[in-house]
Amino acid sequence: MQIILGITGGVAAYKSAELARLLANQGHRVRCILTEAGARFITPLTLTSLTGEPCYGSNPDQGEWRANPSIEHIELARWADLVVVAPATANMLGKTANGLATDLLSTVLLATRAQVLWAPAMNSGMWENPAVQANMARLLSFGHGIVEPGEGVLACGEEGTGKLADVASIAEAIRFHGTPKLRSLNGRKVLITSGPTREDLDPVRTLTNRSTGAMGIELARAFRDVGARVQLVLGGDLPAPWGVETVRVRSAQQMLQACEARWADSAGLVAAAAVADQRPEAPAPEKVKKVQGPESLALVRTPDILATLSSSRRSDQWVLGFAAESQNHLEQALSKLKAKGLDAVLVNDVQGGRAFGAQVNTLTPLTHQGQHPSLGPLSKDRLAQEVVQWWARQLEIRENAQLQVIQP
Ligand code: C5P
Repeated sequence: MQIILGITGGVAAYKSAELARLLANQGHRVRCILTEAGARFITPLTLTSLTGEPCYGSNPDQGEWRANPSIEHIELARWADLVVVAPATANMLGKTANGLATDLLSTVLLATRAQVLWAPAMNSGMWENPAVQANMARLLSFGHGIVEPGEGVLACGEEGTGKLADVASIAEAIRFHGTPKLRSLNGRKVLITSGPTREDLDPVRTLTNRSTGAMGIELARAFRDVGARVQLVLGGDLPAPWGVETVRVRSAQQMLQACEARWADSAGLVAAAAVADQRPEAPAPEKVKKVQGPESLALVRTPDILATLSSSRRSDQWVLGFAAESQNHLEQALSKLKAKGLDAVLVNDVQGGRAFGAQVNTLTPLTHQGQHPSLGPLSKDRLAQEVVQWWARQLEIRENAQLQVIQP
């Protein structure tokens, strides 16, 4: 993408350098525009060095001011696929909310047809001020996006809301706003299970598996990016992704309860969790002591979350499962598709330690129509995007087929 990064006057401007670098490393072209106050906190040279692109400013002494400044703002406004302002001061929010153009950045913001994203940073009193809140609400009503400021100790010494969101979250929001939305998924609620479950034996020991939850988290990000409202029920320790409602769970029973509470509202389910099939029959309330001689562990079956939700689904809900098999993986997956009443199974071949914890993976979709061409090998984030594109196409094919039946 071609991104304009607007930097206004706040201490958090030093973090914009990191953001500029992260975006450039992700392959985006990044051009920075500094306001006069922004240029007191960070120099154009820093930003040009990190992005390899010119840096612009309202003050001819600060940025690289081109020969024909009268049309510069139009060229920049057209060049951008997305404009992000980080940090955004109350002043810049107020100007843009009210259509004022008094310097290069505010003029570009007024002229651009690209998506605009705000990452505000200011004193908490200013942020909570009704005038600032009204300006922010107005910008959102124009279709602009926001990466909400965080809570913490602010540069002014006060504690409260107003801290610039972390750089990784801003980059996530840019990814979300920069991705075209898909009709069959946009605005729909999608329930995703991910990660390992943990079944406690006693207060210190647990039964679990080698899943990290990475694939499910990438699927949550990919569904989010195309417009789905994702609810992620997550086991394991990986951090929750930005822009996704996440519920943390430990055991299979907790995962089932969290899913059942959300299933009726969901358009579909993606069961990517590696759910433990067994749990100890009776978890001990205190740490179990070792004894002499052989020991055994009595196990009972955990609920099958995918099968349970699938059996109670409405005809307008869809269900995707995963299969990780080390042998005869396609035949095994086909029987799973039928037994659990799924719309599709994405088959992992876990032979030789592939899939779990690996960076690169391949998935073969299987539906009632048969086997589809494999997706990958790709990194998990790219693979998740391919899965979402593939599934959105299947949903569109289905919707068209239904329309044809209704209109003979
Ligand atoms: O039967 P199997 O465990 O191989 O099926 C794998 C699929 O079923 C995955 O999509 C997994 O998330 C789901 N599953 C589940 N609850 C279980 C076991 C598996 O949702 N208890």
